[in-house]
Formats: sequence, structure tokens, C-alpha cells
Amino acid sequence: MSAASQPRTLAPSWLVVPDDANGLAPAVWPSGADRDDDGVLRLGGIAATELVERFGTPLYVLDEDDVRHHARRALDAFRAASALHGVQARVYYAGKAFLCTEVVRWVTDEGLAVDVCTGGELAVALAAGADPTRLGFHGSNKSAAELERAVEVGVGSIVIDSLLEIERLGAIVERRGATQNVLLRVNSGVHAETHDFLATAHEDQKFGFALEDAPAAVARIREVTGLSFIGLHCHIGSQIFGAAGFEESAARIVELHASLLGGGAIPVLNLGGGFGIAYTAADDPTPIEELAARIADAVARECEVRGIPMPHLAFEPGRTIVGQAGVTLYEVGTTKPVVLSEGVTRLYVSVDGGMSDNPRAALYGAQYSARIASRESAAAPVLARVVGKHCESGDIVVDAEYLPGDIAPGDLVAVPATGAYCFSLASNYNYVPRPPVVAVRGGEARVIVRGETVDDLIARDAGVHQTSMEGTKVPVLSERRSLSEPQARRNAEPK
Ligand SMILES: Cc1ncc(COP(=O)(O)O)c(C=O)c1O
Repeated sequence: MSAASQPRTLAPSWLVVPDDANGLAPAVWPSGADRDDDGVLRLGGIAATELVERFGTPLYVLDEDDVRHHARRALDAFRAASALHGVQARVYYAGKAFLCTEVVRWVTDEGLAVDVCTGGELAVALAAGADPTRLGFHGSNKSAAELERAVEVGVGSIVIDSLLEIERLGAIVERRGATQNVLLRVNSGVHAETHDFLATAHEDQKFGFALEDAPAAVARIREVTGLSFIGLHCHIGSQIFGAAGFEESAARIVELHASLLGGGAIPVLNLGGGFGIAYTAADDPTPIEELAARIADAVARECEVRGIPMPHLAFEPGRTIVGQAGVTLYEVGTTKPVVLSEGVTRLYVSVDGGMSDNPRAALYGAQYSARIASRESAAAPVLARVVGKHCESGDIVVDAEYLPGDIAPGDLVAVPATGAYCFSLASNYNYVPRPPVVAVRGGEARVIVRGETVDDLIARDAGVHQTSMEGTKVPVLSERRSLSEPQARRNAEPK
């Protein structure tokens, strides 16, 4: 059944039947994405078919130029907006969006600082050679060992999240005779217009301090020898399209900031990240330049009203740096028209990954788009749902998309805007190995994070090793594994 003859009710209201179901909406795809003369999707100048031939599916592809472009763009936007008010801006890349050493090098090359929120993320940033003084360390439950390591390596700033942490960190700096710059995370009470699970400024949540509790916490920090209070920190949520929430939050935080100046100068105000990106052609996020200007203007206005000097600003964009640069390639295994009622059919397109490489649809109801990557098709578009191979009915990759009606097993499907919070949230559900990450640039592709194999996963099973070590007759790993074709190819790649 073609799109024209399908009942509209199955399609979400925002989804329109595309004029061309092969088209690549510029807001959603990396800037280097196009189709070659055979209609094959190219990423960073390389055909998707070639990438899959070399690295298998599923495959995370990251366009290096696109990451660098978005890093520069964010830095320029926040610097320019702040400079208009005579202050500086520091832009931290929020590593939680996608972290590996290569990405740390790209963004630090472009002039960004990096924020990390666990000892593991800190280790990656350090392994990449990042300057520790340009690292920020977050987290609502940092362990003593993580704080110790952060102080030991000389992390630039630590964002304190609880009263307990003030004492925990205080004891460490006192013992070490160190001085540590700290910020205090506060909840502005502004509810970002976004999915509830992402709205981290609600009061009934685990992060930070309520505005009214912050003065006592700051007073305590100022008492502790070795802790240097440099500013407030606030992050109101993620995937936010408009400026209004940021402006309102900035106003509330500046009021608190002003009330704390009696205890000493406060040089910095960190307003976090949360800047939205387009996941589908229907999304229309405010450009980062406009957001940056509106936020900086709001802070300047509030400072002026109160007659206080404007602090330097800091921001922590994650998704907006890497989101659009990432594309996930899958191979179609099965297609299944499912009859929902008389005359109402949904086409299920099953791919060889799913919620293990992208849990965002299952976690947040996130919407994505998709295209056939291995060819163009003139077939009339049909409403399809791209699903994974996991044992969950919520294992959805793309909830609703018009794909050419002749989509079939063996086709490659590309899902754009998967650069943020897919690799970082990936799991091994159903013992599915996590895919490799391949960076593309100028017609070259290279593995920047190797993929897992089933052997990697089995190797963690203590029972397997124990039995082997005790000499009990068990099949060796290589006998029991049965690798899929792409996995076998992937293993042949240099690691
Ligand atoms: C404190 C903090 N800063 C920055 C970010 C990055 O947010 P985004 O990737 O939406 O820009 C997050 C995301 O959860 C966060 O918790």
C-alpha cells in the first residue's frame, strides 16, 4: 500500500509524506553526506556500501569535519555573545554525549574544554592528553577515589553536588595541601520543555541544590581551607529548542549569584548544556548563535539591574557538538507488514542492531529518521517502523518514517543524528556486541573505537574461565562461537 492510500492516523502528525524518500534533509545529516552517481549514500566522501564491506553492520559512523565544525560553531557563538558584554566564555564539551580519545582530541584542538562526570570519563580525557586544568568534573555521587584522582591530576574545576561532597572533597584537599576550584550545582526550578526524564532542573530530583539551600552550602565551601568557590552551575535539561527556559533560569541564578557576592567575588557562572538538535526534518531548534546571544543578554540584563559585575560565562554543550555528525548503518534482515485492523497495515523493517546500540527511543520515546543507504529507489514511500533484533517490543530504532515501499532484506538503512547518547548509552542486551565507531574524513575511514566480539562478552563470564582452568572438558571459545559475517569481517580489521 503506498503512502497516499495509507490511513493518516498511523503516521504521527508531524511526519509528512516526503517528495523524495531518498532525500537527505540538511538539518539532520552530517554536512558531508550525499549520494554518489549510483545513489549510494556517502559519508565523509565514502560510500556506505564500502564502509559496511570493511567494517560490517551495525556501524557507528562519525564525520570528523562535522564534529569539528559544530565545536567551532558553538565556541564562536558563546564567545561572541559574551564578548559583547565584555566577558569571556569557556565552552566545555560534555563528554557524556560521546567520549573516546579521538573525539577529545578533535574538540580540544578546536579550543573547547571538556567536562567529565565519572572516573572513567576522566581517564579517557586524560588518556587523550587533555590539559587537566581545562577539565570540569561533575557527578551527583562522585566517590572519594574519583575526587582524589581529580585533585591529584589537577582538574580545573569540580562541580559540587551535595553537602556531603563538600566534606569529602574538603578532607582530600586538606590532606594533600591542595587548592581546588569548585562550583556549586543549583536547580533553578525552571522546567525545560522536554521529556521528563531529561529535565534535570525539577526540584524532585537527585542533582544539585535548591536555590534556597545554596547560600548555606556556599558558606560552608568558603569555610573549608583548600576549596575555592568560583561560581554557580546550573543545567536545566536536554534537547531544548527555545531560549525562554535558559533566560528564565539565568535570571534566577543571577539573583542567587548576586546575593552571594557579599562573601567574596564570584568570577564564573556555568549555565550547562541542553541545546537541542534536529532528529527529524520536522524539528526546528533555535540556532546556537541565537541561543548564545539570548542567554548572555539575559545574564547581562540581570546583572545590570542589580548593579553587579557580569561574571565570565561557561557552557557545556554535548549533543549539539556530536549529534548531527553521527550516522548508524544497519542491514535489513526482515520486513513484515503487520495488519493492525482492516485496511490498516504497518510495515516493520527489522535491522541487525536496535536498542543495544541506540536505546533512546526506548528510554525517552526519541524520534529519528531513516533512509535506504545502499541505493536510491523510485518506489512509492510507505509508512514504516524500523525495529531492532532484541527481545523487547519496545526495541524501536525509528518509530515512524516513510521509506521506499520496495525496501527489502539486504538493503542498508542509515539512521542520522545518532552521534550523541547512542554509543555512550549502548549495552550488550541479548549478548549483542557493541558496534565499532569509524571516523570518516576526506574519503578516508578509520576505526576509532573497535567493535566488540561475542568472545569479548564471553570472556567476562567467570564461569567459562573457571571451568576451563580446572581442566573440565568445555569447548574452547573459538569452537562455540558462531560469528556473523560482518563480525568475522570486523575481526579481520586491524585493532
Ligand atoms: C551537567 C550537564 N552538563 C551538560 C550536559 C550536556 O547536555 P547536552 O548534551 O544536552 O548539551 C548534561 C547532560 O545531561 C549535563 O547533565
